Amino acid sequence: MNSQIITPLSHNIIEAAALLKSGRLVAIPTETVYGLAANALDDRAVAKIYELKNRPQFNPLIIHFAELRDVDQHVVLNEKALRLAKAFWPGPMTLVLPRKESSPISLLASAGLNTLAVRIPNHQVCLEILRHAQVPLAAPSANPSQSLSPTLAEHVALGFKSNPNPPMIIDGGTCSIGLESTIIDLSEETPVILRPGAITPEAISAVLGEPVALFHETSHRPKAPGMLLRHYAPTLPLRLNVSSVNPDEGLLAFAEPVPGDALHMLNLSITGDLTEAAANLFKLMRMLDHSDCKGIAVMPIPKTGIGLAINDRLERAAYQ
Ligand code: TXA
Ligand code: MG
Repeated sequence: MNSQIITPLSHNIIEAAALLKSGRLVAIPTETVYGLAANALDDRAVAKIYELKNRPQFNPLIIHFAELRDVDQHVVLNEKALRLAKAFWPGPMTLVLPRKESSPISLLASAGLNTLAVRIPNHQVCLEILRHAQVPLAAPSANPSQSLSPTLAEHVALGFKSNPNPPMIIDGGTCSIGLESTIIDLSEETPVILRPGAITPEAISAVLGEPVALFHETSHRPKAPGMLLRHYAPTLPLRLNVSSVNPDEGLLAFAEPVPGDALHMLNLSITGDLTEAAANLFKLMRMLDHSDCKGIAVMPIPKTGIGLAINDRLERAAYQ
């Protein structure tokens, strides 16, 4: 059962980094909890995270970096962000910031949002993996959906023990914090703590010189956890589960396209591969949304495995 737990010797770290860069998943230690990491620039690799975790929804993921100058390439580091970064990075703090147009980070990793959640973890093994991989790493907690976040390599192994394809796990010992990072949304005027963690509201306020609200205390935002995120929604109307397409519509196809002369046609996966479809979803939805179509017609996607998350996302997009 423990066969895939690997000691963090230099050559193993280099191998893990190479695997990550090439699109494979590796469970990595951080000071908060173990993360299930993937190359954040690679849509296919990010899709595998949702698949392995069996997540029925595409929640946006935290993107991990080794250096502040790397973070700077992908998000707009405003003054508040720089102050918090100086005070708490590397460390158990995640900042939600506006994404730079030029950032090549997978749209699936950020669930199509215009913001990115970024952090520099404080764990030597993790930082070494990040430096060797030379790509940012998207990493949610390394547990199957609905189960507890792992703080030991053995916990990660247990979580995925019945999986035919368990990830390599780099053993970094017990996570010193043991609780997920504090998430602070700095993408709007008022900073808001979206998830409490080891970095306290008091500590954040002291650095910023202004009070920070906990998410549930702010009355101007919805309270239900499911509403926590502003989701990406296309501006064009979306028609789901279509069996034919109209000439003024863009067709978001899956496998063999339905009959009809669509204005544009983009295929989520010609071979009917759900992981590939997930990897392409936000990218292709955006392309059609920015085209001269009058609406987007989406073919039925099987509601199995990662197809559940694809359908969840499409239904939300159609509803808004
Ligand atoms: O300590 C941690 O943060 C761990 C380690 C592995 O770094 N990671 C972690 O990831 O807890 P995860 O996927 O379990 O939690 C990420 C949460 C999402 O559920 C979402 O609420 C929030 O981060 N998030 C990510 N991107 C966001 C964005 N653009 N806007 C708002 N919230 C975001
Ligand atoms: Mg989690």
